[in-house]
Amino acid sequence: MIIGTVKETKASENRVALSPEVVKNLIKQGFECCIESGAGVASNFSDAAYETAGAKIIQTAKEVCNQADILVKVNAPSIEEIANLKEGSALLSFIYHLNNADLISQLNAKKVTVFSMDAIPRISRAQSMDALSSQANLAGYKAVILGAQHSARIFPMLMTAAGTITPSKVLIFGAGVAGLQAIGTAKRLGAVVEVTDIRPETKEQVESLGGKFISFDTGEVKIEGGYVKETSEDTLKKQREILGKHLAAADIAITTALIPGKKAPILITEDMVKTMKLGSVIVDMAVEQGGNCEISEAGKVVVKHGVKIVGEVNLPSQLAQNASESYSKNIYAFLTHLANKDGFKWEMEEEITKGTLICKEGNLLK
Ligand code: NAI
Repeated sequence: MIIGTVKETKASENRVALSPEVVKNLIKQGFECCIESGAGVASNFSDAAYETAGAKIIQTAKEVCNQADILVKVNAPSIEEIANLKEGSALLSFIYHLNNADLISQLNAKKVTVFSMDAIPRISRAQSMDALSSQANLAGYKAVILGAQHSARIFPMLMTAAGTITPSKVLIFGAGVAGLQAIGTAKRLGAVVEVTDIRPETKEQVESLGGKFISFDTGEVKIEGGYVKETSEDTLKKQREILGKHLAAADIAITTALIPGKKAPILITEDMVKTMKLGSVIVDMAVEQGGNCEISEAGKVVVKHGVKIVGEVNLPSQLAQNASESYSKNIYAFLTHLANKDGFKWEMEEEITKGTLICKEGNLLK
């Protein structure tokens, strides 16, 4: 089985799907690896490092696609990449099949078997394959660092001959993977951290990281597989009322609230932004799903009502080396779960296979 990887073509993408360390491990398992020249440079992996690991370096993406039995990528393939894939080959990447129906039908027409990295179930057996979590974890860290960079205030309390500087107040919405990492990072930098989540059971985790949990009457929240499935407008309204005064006192707000498959809930309205302190910062991690802040803009840093609103859509790419190392380990765990050097195992009823397989040899499964 030949595993191929190409340089990502999506704008501002610095990650790569395979690291030299993982190439070495795949080769130990009997796979062959071919890598497009320069594919890892933006993640600080040189062609020489891949060669030392045992990969074959190939000059063009076209040749990699022509040769690979399995193409592994970070982002969904381009039209050109699809055109160059071998009929009957397989693809592993983030693909968000519900939003990319056209792409999936083109892949299916070429009888390319597609596994989606964003569909790995959040079960303990699949933790080592959970790429959404590995990337969100790093993104939570980077969101705090970006918030600090855009703020004109330091995080820790400082007692100096020129007087005492009070610590920054950081307010975090959502205590999932990204939120918990953001709490830990902001605490380590010395901020006072407040946190809200619609799942009351996160209170204990928040407090164990040193955050102060802000409770509110959430009413009935539909939860399935650890994810919030729906929030009523009434609950969101109550939440905005309670959180309003905390937001007005915050120096930095980081929003991570997610309802899978739906538009992000609005937790900060424009009127709430108007109450915030001059120079405060909002980092809206959910901006690609429409944003938790009503007036954030995807891919931009905007200043509105004296508040800086950061809408960075690809935070993991800004930590490309670690993000690629982690993603690559997720790929390794997933790939060796699905296949060995002789081919796929096709355990069709197995939960991870079933959850991630989008189309197989010309048959659309989802
Ligand atoms: P997660 O599912 O682990 O956490 C989301 C949390 O939001 C859950 O704890 C949930 O209970 C909470 N939540 C839902 N509704 C809420 C509400 N009304 N108020 C407060 N909390 C609420 O998701 P994860 O992996 O932490 O990702 C968080 C967000 O960050 C997602 O929108 C994800 O797409 C985004 N993300 C953005 C990146 C970027 O580069 N901008 C990179 C990685 C993730």
